[in-house]
Amino acid sequence: MSFRVPFVIAIDGPAASGKSTVAKGVARALDCVFVNSGEMYRAFTWWVLENGIDPNNADAVITLLNETSFACGEEEMIGYVEIQGRRLSDEQLKNDAINSSVSAIAAIPEVRERLVEEQRGFARFPALVMEGRDIGTVVFADTPYKFFVDASPEIRAARRSAEGIEDSIEARDLADSMRKASPLKQATDAIRIDTSEMGPDEVVAVVVDSISLNKEAA
Ligand code: CDP
Repeated sequence: MSFRVPFVIAIDGPAASGKSTVAKGVARALDCVFVNSGEMYRAFTWWVLENGIDPNNADAVITLLNETSFACGEEEMIGYVEIQGRRLSDEQLKNDAINSSVSAIAAIPEVRERLVEEQRGFARFPALVMEGRDIGTVVFADTPYKFFVDASPEIRAARRSAEGIEDSIEARDLADSMRKASPLKQATDAIRIDTSEMGPDEVVAVVVDSISLNKEAA
């Protein structure tokens, strides 16, 4: 499939590594549309549960997928997804039920294929920061601007529990890394940033500086 690649900054990493905070900060600093691809997997997971479907029943999930409409756009430079014409709240997307089901659904190749197509649709905007698990390896594998944001398991667990949400990030990371279809992994040409000992502004500065240097060298 061919698609136009605009200026895309890919930010991947495990759960609660700080990638959302960084991605939002970089998007603001460089005037890019910010897209959280995880929100799309969460939205579809919400719809699967809403329909009373077992997330481990891949056939039933795929049947629902084929009947489901997605619409993506941006508002005030933030990407959004509508599922069956509905935009979901933070509470609907980030809760225990979604956290414990999303990895099973994201492991289904047909689900990924459909959502990756939607994610690539954001290439209609001139400049994007997209965060996720496979943005640098699959979704926008051709972009020269790739970052893999990580932090120690202890720090990540502490960050997630500080948000007050039940989330077994260890189990989710394991499932995301072990799946066959586009697993969570660092692209060979991505810059790795360990944010364990860094504040958000510092991480944003590292990304922005490395992009400026990279652009000057091009
Ligand atoms: O915010 P957090 O890192 O905890 O998760 P998220 O980015 O909202 O992603 C939720 C889940 O969606 C992940 O655990 C993956 O199973 C899936 N996901 C994916 O498979 N591929 C992506 N590009 C983004 C998310």
